[in-house]
Amino acid sequence: MYGLEGRKAIVTGAAHGIGRAIAARLVAEGCAVGIFDRDEAAAEAAAQTLRQAGGTVFVASGDVSAKANVAAGIGSLMERLGEVDILVNNAGICRVGKLLETNDTDWNATFGVNVDGLFHVTREVAPQMIARRRGAIINMASWMGKSGVAAYGAYCASKFAVVALTQSFAAEVGEFGVRVNAIAPGLIVDTQMRDESEVERKAQGLPSAQDRAQSIPLRRPGLPEDIAKAVLFLASQQADYITGETISVTGGLWND
Ligand SMILES: NC(=O)c1ccc[n+]([C@@H]2O[C@H](COP(=O)([O-])OP(=O)(O)OC[C@H]3O[C@@H](n4cnc5c(N)ncnc54)[C@H](O)[C@@H]3O)[C@@H](O)[C@H]2O)c1
Repeated sequence: MYGLEGRKAIVTGAAHGIGRAIAARLVAEGCAVGIFDRDEAAAEAAAQTLRQAGGTVFVASGDVSAKANVAAGIGSLMERLGEVDILVNNAGICRVGKLLETNDTDWNATFGVNVDGLFHVTREVAPQMIARRRGAIINMASWMGKSGVAAYGAYCASKFAVVALTQSFAAEVGEFGVRVNAIAPGLIVDTQMRDESEVERKAQGLPSAQDRAQSIPLRRPGLPEDIAKAVLFLASQQADYITGETISVTGGLWND
């Protein structure tokens, strides 16, 4: 349906949650997939499941915020995969906390993974796309990259940066046939981030995901597969005149 058979894709943060669902859908569409994740054991387990289903899946472990890790890990994936058609910059972290209570460690970690990490990985993969005049990059932003939210200042700022980088890079590489888009997921459950975030929210007396889901127009929280479907669309020729865009996949959620 999406015409992605035989394509080669790298997905960061695909050991868990949304990234894992994206890798699974890309494999189901006939793509060979390289997973880059800091959680080596979970990445290997995810890859093993996909290989058993007939997929070609490679794993490299490392931290996207560490430039040397990215150069080595993404380099080794590119050697094994060959020329990469699709890059999904999905790895991300979220620290809940009011701005004046956010310490330097949490602030720097948030930007290190969500912003520096995206920059490091893109810098490794995009030159070869530009040279081939073909490629689709999909960055994982958030609905919190479109709207500032109390207790999520660092995270929101990092995701606004993802939207900005998506627009800027799209403007730079469009002439070389490379499209750069982002997805802004809403409240997505069945992910490690959501589970951790719920624990922090409970400790801070904030409403739970299930409570908040009641005010989502489509009346349910999102699932990782909801995001994976949008990735397939943006990676495919169905989206060949879309670049620099950040698509909300939120069930209509627009405010907390
Ligand atoms: N879950 C949500 O409600 C939600 C909403 C909006 C946006 N997002 C975004 O979607 C993306 C995926 O989130 P998720 O909910 O699936 O979270 P998750 O915690 O389940 O998965 C994140 C993955 O990234 C990996 N990762 C984290 N830091 C890394 C690092 N430094 N280097 C390499 N890998 C790293 C983790 O090991 C994990 O496999 C993130 O960018 C997140 O900000 C999530």
